[in-house]
Amino acid sequence: MKLRTNFVAATMLAGAVSAFSFLSAGAAQAQGALVVYCGVQEEWCRGMVNAFERETGIKVSMTRKSAGEVYAQVKAEAANPRADIWWGGTGDPHMQAAEEGLTVEYKSPKMGELQDWAVRQWEQSKGKTVGIYSGALGFGYNTELVKSKGIPEPKCWADLLTTKLKDEVQVADPNSSGTAYTLLATIIQLMGEEKGFDYLKAVHKNINQYTKSGAAPAKAMALGETTVGIAFMHDIVTMVVDKAPIKVVAPCEGTGYEIGSMSLIKGAKNLDNAKKFYDWALTPAAQKIGAETKSYQVPSNKATPVPPEAPKLADIKLINFDFAKYGSSDERKRLLSKWDNEVKNLPK
Ligand code: F6P
Repeated sequence: MKLRTNFVAATMLAGAVSAFSFLSAGAAQAQGALVVYCGVQEEWCRGMVNAFERETGIKVSMTRKSAGEVYAQVKAEAANPRADIWWGGTGDPHMQAAEEGLTVEYKSPKMGELQDWAVRQWEQSKGKTVGIYSGALGFGYNTELVKSKGIPEPKCWADLLTTKLKDEVQVADPNSSGTAYTLLATIIQLMGEEKGFDYLKAVHKNINQYTKSGAAPAKAMALGETTVGIAFMHDIVTMVVDKAPIKVVAPCEGTGYEIGSMSLIKGAKNLDNAKKFYDWALTPAAQKIGAETKSYQVPSNKATPVPPEAPKLADIKLINFDFAKYGSSDERKRLLSKWDNEVKNLPK
């Protein structure tokens, strides 16, 4: 009898261990490979890859790129996909990829643990992309440069139009950057399309450079290479944490925000491993790696602690961002080509 009890207990234990083996260090022998396209900051991408490799033994090959660039690559490789999973980056190109059949539906067992906005992203994409973090768009300014150049401290989107900021404002190019596409969609939702494009044309006069990556203007501000940088507020906070003389601004008129997303690539060669990464990436243990690598977005699992440095979304005047509309393939293509034709190459 005792023997039987021990046997049953041992069997149950073995079952439990194997059920959770992908999360345990003991499973480090589980072999295999995984190709991840990563859309956040390099440090966070590396932190995720290292932790996942440690816990599962799966060898990860990772490439970091901006949101629009990953989308373009996934599309170009559609006939013979190289990547298995696309983790991070703004939701709009994930939504576009979902609509264009470049990614596949998946319901993670972790869905029940997620914030409503993360689940809504999944529902709106018919299960093909899920929210992993959120963060608001804003801008920052280098307090020393503002002072030395006698520029009034900007508080609103409208303040970025002053001629005193000529060649002093930096933002990314919306074709490559999800941050900059979020700006384009935000301004249109705030002002209407016609007035919104007028605003973007006017601000163009003050732009010193359209960068490839969305966080680059925050870094340039910290180095004193630009007075103002438009970026996600959490990326500017990272510079402040590193002691850069920067003030972070939530624009007075209101602002947009992102739902950073994750998708499984259609035709993935390592689909099972990609699903393991997907499920793991939604756990608090994995999501905490963000703050540990100085990325201060709001995580999508309700049980992941929100980093104290993260801009408080409840205190920011957020617009009712229409993610389905601005993530739709036709709208995204139309707005990007309109921006290319009407704004990008305008003489200053
Ligand atoms: O990791 C920083 C971050 O701002 C994310 O919050 C965002 O999803 C991503 O970078 C956008 O990057 P990019 O504008 O370069 O596409």
